[in-house]
Amino acid sequence: MNADDLTLLVTGANGQVGQELRRRAPGRAQNVVALDRAGLDIGDADAVAAAVAKIRPSVIINAAAYTAVDQAESAAAEADRGNRIGPANLAAAAAAQNAALIHISTDYVFDGRGKRPYRADDPVSPLGIYGQSKEAGERAVRDALARHVILRTAWVYAAHGSNFMRTMLRVGHTRDELKVVDDQHGTPTPAADIAEACLSIAGHLAGSDGEKFAGTYHYVAEGETTWAGFAEAIFERAAVVWGRRPSVTRITSAEYPVPAPRPAYSVLDCAPTLATFKTPRQPWQAGLEAELSAFFATLENNKG
Ligand SMILES: NC(=O)c1ccc[n+]([C@@H]2O[C@H](COP(=O)([O-])OP(=O)(O)OC[C@H]3O[C@@H](n4cnc5c(N)ncnc54)[C@H](OP(=O)(O)O)[C@@H]3O)[C@@H](O)[C@H]2O)c1
Repeated sequence: MNADDLTLLVTGANGQVGQELRRRAPGRAQNVVALDRAGLDIGDADAVAAAVAKIRPSVIINAAAYTAVDQAESAAAEADRGNRIGPANLAAAAAAQNAALIHISTDYVFDGRGKRPYRADDPVSPLGIYGQSKEAGERAVRDALARHVILRTAWVYAAHGSNFMRTMLRVGHTRDELKVVDDQHGTPTPAADIAEACLSIAGHLAGSDGEKFAGTYHYVAEGETTWAGFAEAIFERAAVVWGRRPSVTRITSAEYPVPAPRPAYSVLDCAPTLATFKTPRQPWQAGLEAELSAFFATLENNKG
């Protein structure tokens, strides 16, 4: 199937990845329908079935999720609705309308005891409610729909939205010293790059032989760091604009207690994804440079 025949339905269109999909999908598909939560609540089975029957997408990209990792520890029902029931509804509706589904998932399905990048078929063992609900969502998609891709990603950020980069910039703007966790290893990944990966995959999955691409894949930027390493890289670039550079004190997870446990190591092996879908990828530092440039350019434009 070429772009002229492709109709895409994007859910969660106001999230970090959703906004990037909304920006990038036109031109890559004949028709793009991007719905935020107000336009389509994926937890509502009837609404999902009706929307998919009406839009008749060739591919649905599910960027909607309950992503509040710590809040999930005391909101299991909400996490389940967004992360298991929602994807199950989308997969059932896709099956009924002969559509394919790209469902975004997370590195938090792993427990982080691994010592080399996780492969897609490594055993899952999520540590917290968020990871458990996402893992249940993956199973729901696999059970209901053959023509699916589950794309696990990690440490998502953008110049917009709610994310670690923006938190560091907000706090670092006024503070000279920040304590940041240095014993969790992963790969900061721009939402824009994940959106591009989804669009590459959509082109493959939409074809009449789309089922041969079905399965679970990983996509993160190249390389790895810790949250403290990420913070230092953010401040190194911000210092060019601010004329000052906050210092980062490296601490352990035990020194920064939060409700949800996180994997200590969640670097993802992306080799099969790159080989199968020819998805572009850049080192995490290059992605950060692009997102920080966009962030500071927006600030500058808003001033003028
Ligand atoms: N953020 C990360 O670091 C990270 C890491 C690994 C994987 N992921 C995965 O990547 C995907 C995209 O994440 P993101 O960072 O773009 O998340 P995000 O910015 O939090 O966006 C998620 C969007 O989904 C919407 N949503 C929540 N429940 C919904 C529902 N029932 N129906 C429709 N929309 C709903 C949210 O709307 P409201 O704003 O109204 O709630 C929000 O706009 C998710 O699958 C997430 O699990 C994220």
